[in-house]
Amino acid sequence: MKNVLKITGGIPLKGSIKTQGAKNAALPVIAACLILRGGTLTLDNIPDLYDISAMYDLLRALGVEILKENNSRAIFKVPEELRWEAPEPIVRKMRASSLVLGPLLANCGRISLPLPGGCSIGSRPIDLHLKGLKQMGAEIEIRNGVVHASVKGRLRGRRIYLDFPSVGATENLMVAAALASGETIIENIAREPEIDNLAETLRNLGVPVELEGTGGVRIKGIDRAKSGYSRVIPDRIEAGTYILAGVMTRGEMTVTDLIPSHIDSMLAKLEEAGAKFKVTKDSVTVYPVKRLKPISVKTMPFPGFPTDAQPQMSAALSIANGVSMVEESVFQSRFLYAQELNRMGADIKISRDLAVIKGVKKLQGATVKATDLRAGAALIIAGLAAEGETRVDDMVHVWRGYEAIDQKLRSLGAKVELLDSL
Ligand code: EPZ
Repeated sequence: MKNVLKITGGIPLKGSIKTQGAKNAALPVIAACLILRGGTLTLDNIPDLYDISAMYDLLRALGVEILKENNSRAIFKVPEELRWEAPEPIVRKMRASSLVLGPLLANCGRISLPLPGGCSIGSRPIDLHLKGLKQMGAEIEIRNGVVHASVKGRLRGRRIYLDFPSVGATENLMVAAALASGETIIENIAREPEIDNLAETLRNLGVPVELEGTGGVRIKGIDRAKSGYSRVIPDRIEAGTYILAGVMTRGEMTVTDLIPSHIDSMLAKLEEAGAKFKVTKDSVTVYPVKRLKPISVKTMPFPGFPTDAQPQMSAALSIANGVSMVEESVFQSRFLYAQELNRMGADIKISRDLAVIKGVKKLQGATVKATDLRAGAALIIAGLAAEGETRVDDMVHVWRGYEAIDQKLRSLGAKVELLDSL
């Protein structure tokens, strides 16, 4: 299996690439189709990713028929009666399977779902999801690593306060509220753009959803959702990753089909570091600068700096002209990539949730391992800027979130080649 990306570094990227549909918008939007009974969701701009295929496998196992018109457009045909047991092997393939909890419980009144496991960035609990569903009347029991949830009659609309603006908990509870009796108000919700995409999709399926500026959302439960259409927003993290690749390789390149307001925090920090770029209504063009200035970055829920761009930003700062500080405040441990970057000559010291990054002039190519999709992306952009050849192993992580990354990089003039595993 082609699981290694060989990169010849030192080539400034040139040209233009189009942003893919957002993985983290497509997954909850696709799961939301489970509130339908004998209806369809037509969805456009779906990215072609491993995680999306895993979600398709899960939905098919639950009884959904998926008609793929092409790689980016699909029609999800939901039967009157869904199965409510999610098969373990499929669920264990992808953490985002927990996103079927809310819709399935709301639609079928019961669900058995294996708990998602931990991963290299943290334990990934779903306690906030379960607490909210319990508040809506669900009975929840965890036995042998499987969540068994059920509700007598319908979930009941409630006022729910999220202790943390969890993206997944916000999404699960919004979709559960769609079929609950009465109105649900969720406060302290996640404000990521993917939440807006989900809200719009629910409206298109007949659910009255009002996002409030105060960080809350008001949802009036309906008896039966109607067929509808939606479109996945551009992937702000993929766009940010390629922008950082352009900055690191001192190239002149454009990323199109993005929404600039979704990457405000990334652009602001890059500007602070002295990067030069031009922003239009749907693109960013990067221009070469000598070396970035060192900066401090702290990851926060949206609109703060996104944790999903933290490894990639750290890679860019590893060749800045001075000492940068990067604090990871969202996940427990999202610095595993640092030791791999240090093998490429970076000088990164980690103490708990803080990375102290002493910029070096140049990175050297090396053989490194991706530990999660964003760590893999960070190693790839580091390899593009490094002297000599880099081999990134375990690309299986990267394929989860980056559509055709080897082809996209080649179209920008990079010298990359896929090889079989080491
Ligand atoms: C979503 O994960 C994204 N995944 C993640 O992207 C992203 O990093 C994260 O949001 C934050 O933006 C998808 O959308 C599929 P959270 P999610 O619930 O929903 C803790 C990527 O690289 N927490 O906002 O799991 C949790 O442990 C992936 O594309 C609880 O304690 O994120 C974490 O520390 C990685 N209890 C923090 O909150 C809960 O019930 C943020 O988690 C839920 C979360």
